[in-house]
Amino acid sequence: MKPAHIAIIMDGNGRWAKARGLPRAAGHRAGVEALRRTVRAAGDLGIEWLTVYAFSSENWSRPKSEVSDLMGLLKLFIRRDLAEIHQAGVRVRMIGERESLAADIRALVEEAEALTAQNTGMNLVIAFNYGARDEIARAAKELAKAAAAGTLDPAEITPESFGRFLDTRLIPDPDLIIRTSGELRLSNFLLWQGAYSELIFLPCYWPDFGSADLAGAIESFAGRERRYGGLAAREVAS
Ligand code: FPP
Repeated sequence: MKPAHIAIIMDGNGRWAKARGLPRAAGHRAGVEALRRTVRAAGDLGIEWLTVYAFSSENWSRPKSEVSDLMGLLKLFIRRDLAEIHQAGVRVRMIGERESLAADIRALVEEAEALTAQNTGMNLVIAFNYGARDEIARAAKELAKAAAAGTLDPAEITPESFGRFLDTRLIPDPDLIIRTSGELRLSNFLLWQGAYSELIFLPCYWPDFGSADLAGAIESFAGRERRYGGLAAREVAS
């Protein structure tokens, strides 16, 4: 089976740059090129949902200049690529905390969402100022407010109803999460939604990730058996 939703932790830009004696910013720029290639490749491979971890709530702790490089790259990505993305029928959405983003960034993101809202091709979800714990805490806050206002009965809260308060309320859970750069962790990415995701960790740095890596990950996903806590199909049958 092909994964309907692939989520990617695009890691290793800094090490890619360091290995070449380049500044970290050059690694992030090369990372944007890899992102462009991956969006095209995922569309060509018939992937319905692609989520990319572009800036985490914890990335604010990086040096100011690096944070501003990453903000600038998001703006550049939207300004340069939005027309092509829209033309390809891709629908763009952002998950993450919006309130504390600079007004120009938020406006650009919302422009991209509005422009592509009617598109029916691939869905590109940009996790920006995103952290799973922050997302879950924000959802809990909304639930608590609704309970205090008397519009929600706490006894009725289920995983399904809780999920409707998350940023991903209209987005299916990822089938496959890929992380590049050889690190073996989730780093606060889609912790709720990834409960049953298959995980693939690749040694390459993100700027070196290409369509062959994506196709390879899809192929290894096809060989996985997903049980969601139940039994394998052959065990049920016997
Ligand atoms: C990890 O590399 C990558 C990030 C922190 C951000 C990912 C950003 C991009 C791919 C480019 C920006 C794209 C947009 C749309 C904003 P790292 O810096 O942690 O690498 P390292 O672990 O080798 O230092």
